[in-house]
Amino acid sequence: MIIQPRTRGFICLTSHPEGCAAHVKQQIAYVQSKGKIANGPKKVLVIGASTGFGLASRIATAFGSDAATIGVFFEKSATEGRPATAGWYNSAAFEQEAAKAGLYAKSINGDAYSDEIKKQTIELIKQDLGQVDLVVYSLASPRRTHPKTGVAYASVLKPINEPFSNKTVDFHTGVVSNITIDPVTEQSDIDNTIAVMGGEDWKFWMEDLKAAGVLADGVKTVAYSYIGPELTYPIYRNGTIGMAKNDLEATVPTINNLLADLHGVSYVSVNKALVTQSSSAIPVVPLYISLLYKVMKEKNIHEGCIEQMYRLFDDRLYAAKPIGLDTEGRIRVDDWEMREDVQAEVAKLWEQINSENINEISDLEGYRKDFFNLFGFEFDNVDYNVETNELVDVPSIK
Ligand code: NAD
Ligand code: NA
Repeated sequence: MIIQPRTRGFICLTSHPEGCAAHVKQQIAYVQSKGKIANGPKKVLVIGASTGFGLASRIATAFGSDAATIGVFFEKSATEGRPATAGWYNSAAFEQEAAKAGLYAKSINGDAYSDEIKKQTIELIKQDLGQVDLVVYSLASPRRTHPKTGVAYASVLKPINEPFSNKTVDFHTGVVSNITIDPVTEQSDIDNTIAVMGGEDWKFWMEDLKAAGVLADGVKTVAYSYIGPELTYPIYRNGTIGMAKNDLEATVPTINNLLADLHGVSYVSVNKALVTQSSSAIPVVPLYISLLYKVMKEKNIHEGCIEQMYRLFDDRLYAAKPIGLDTEGRIRVDDWEMREDVQAEVAKLWEQINSENINEISDLEGYRKDFFNLFGFEFDNVDYNVETNELVDVPSIK
């Protein structure tokens, strides 16, 4: 079929198999251009491995450290006339490239929050790898069914206590408007968001992996968080999602205890704001990202997911030097985003930005391009006007 982008708000309903493959190959080429991560991981489980930071983690460890990878994700395969999700095509391309490079790569498609998928993953590790030495936890989801109680939780993206008003952009049209988001009215909205995006499921994974004996001595595990600037605090760090991130970060000591006898260690890495399927759903944040991109590109310190994840593994998690944690014990690869000079310029531009000047003072075009790239669109070397086969397999998924 001929596949063109079809968007509804911040969602793209179609994805392009060759475009997604081009995106994956671009990320592999970046890692190859950087060279090998010394003493990097060798057997890696990535939970949330098909898009965004999780996919970049898989690519960085496979092609940067010759790691065997097992990727867990929740994606849809294609049916005749209906393309698969981007994460499906990304994973298909990743496995093909891994095979060409002689790297082990297998994938599991299903609900990572469930006991069943945890069990399947453990069986696959036992059968093929024996143990893993790194577990990356990179899930982003609007809902979770609790595996022990069956309760279905839905997360919300809202401020707490007070309404939040600020500028936001429709990145398709460039129209900047004011948005007011009402705060949660029920404590349960906060609790539900914590249940979905907090640390419990990460802990469940680590407990099950440990009990099954599939964690290697000296195992590391890392999950991802975000802080961002004060202007997004009401909707992000001090909002419902921020409460979930607090909970995720508070899980680190618990997992460290669990891993102590294996000499294992857990970390949260605070990553930079980037265009992903998850971040495009948060009001205000896309306008902030457009300004951030402009400022960071001008200063030559812009990074995408793959640059961030390569730096995380090469310069932090597996570096010979001390890892360098903040006062809360977190890894900070958002250090360049949070630089004072960067934030001061973004704050100044934030005051000025409107629908008239948005294309001059922000990198809305870069935001838009990154958004379409997520779904395999707007790659120069792909012809979107010709028929392509939508029925692509992820080789390891039967
Ligand atoms: P993403 O939407 O690109 O990736 C989410 C991944 O989770 C996908 O692989 C998806 O298939 C998988 N997934 C979702 N629900 C699942 C389920 N039930 N079972 C199995 N897999 C499931 O998101 P992302 O932006 O890369 O986010 C990953 C992590 O990074 C999140 O914790 C997020 O908060 C954090 N983070 C994101 C940003 C940002 O700006 N995007 C910044 C800092 C930290
Ligand atoms: Na290293």
